[in-house]
Formats: sequence, structure tokens, C-alpha cells
Amino acid sequence: MLKRFSVGVCLSALLMSLGSAVSATEDHGSQPAIDFRNANMIIYKWYMGPMGRMAKGEMPYDQALFQKNAEALATAARLDVLDGFPKGSTDEDSEAKPEIWDNWSEFEEKFKALQMESEKLADVAAKGDRAATLSQFQNTGKTCGGCHKKFREK
Ligand code: HEC
Repeated sequence: MLKRFSVGVCLSALLMSLGSAVSATEDHGSQPAIDFRNANMIIYKWYMGPMGRMAKGEMPYDQALFQKNAEALATAARLDVLDGFPKGSTDEDSEAKPEIWDNWSEFEEKFKALQMESEKLADVAAKGDRAATLSQFQNTGKTCGGCHKKFREK
């Protein structure tokens, strides 16, 4: 009697834990996508940082460091961040505007602009011309703001 009882308890505990493991993945909704895209954005910001400080003269200009960051940014931008924007995936913690999904092809274009300009920046920085590098850095930076302005909540 006791044995049968404890088998039953164990079985129901097992079923309950399986059930909560399943609902844990279902209940999170958009959060994994929001985490993925923000992780990508944080990586962009990380590599833009030193380039921005060099461009503003807040840090000594170092072509090798510029080139390293430009290459890393282009590499990061090769990951398809659009995978992190499934339809309607926004909530009160997200800064993604619903306009993204009403203007999807424009949103895609804005991401392609970042990919193109950051590739170009990596090429230009590798050639070692400071003025050309800084000028292409401006073009690259504009693609961030160009998307945020319309599609990211202030
Ligand atoms: C195609 C559009 C697009 C481009 C291009 C883009 N972003 Fe974003 N970015 C977004 C959106 C949308 C959000 C808000 C996402 C959310 O909160 O769900 C965001 C959020 C961010 C965040 C906040 C991350 C966080 O943890 O909340 C940072 C930082 C950021 N972007 C940096 C950048 C930088 C730097 C670039 C350029 C190198 C860039 N982004 C290019 C659309 C874009």
C-alpha cells in the first residue's frame, strides 16, 4: 500500500515537472527573440564604442584598433538579426515599435544598409587611410540612427 502510494506520488511529481518544463518554453513568448536581437545590438554598440571615441578625439586614433573593431562589427552584422524580430514580438519591456511589422521591407532595407556600410568600413579601414576611414565610419553610424529613428521607441 505504502509502496504503491509512493510510486504514484513519484509519477505525478514527474508528470508535473515535465508539464512545467513544457509550459516554461511556451509561456516565455517573445522574450527569447527580444533577448537575441538586443544581444546583437549590444555587440554592435560594443564595437562602435572605441571607433566613436577615436572619431571624436576622445581617444588617440589607432588605425589597427579601428580596423579590428570595424571587422568585428561587419562580422556581427553578418548574423541575421531579422531572425530576432518575429511578427508582433514586442511588449512593454521592448523598445521595438509595432511599425516594424507594418513596414517590414523597409526594416529589412535598413538592416541591409548596416550590413553594406559596415562591410565597406572594414574594407576601407584595412587600407589604412584615416580620413577615408572616418568618413565611412560616419556612414556606418548613420545606419544605426536611421533604423532607430523610425523603429525604436525613445
Ligand atoms: C534594422 C534596424 C536597426 C539597425 C540597423 C540597428 N538597430 Fe539597434 N535597435 C533596433 C530596434 C528595433 C531596437 C529595440 C529592440 C527591442 O527593445 O526589442 C534596437 C535596440 C538597440 C539597443 C538597445 C539594446 C538593449 O539592450 O536594449 C542598442 C544599444 C542598439 N540598438 C545599438 C545599435 C547600433 C550601435 C547599431 C548600428 C551599428 C544599431 N543598433 C543598428 C533596430 C536597429
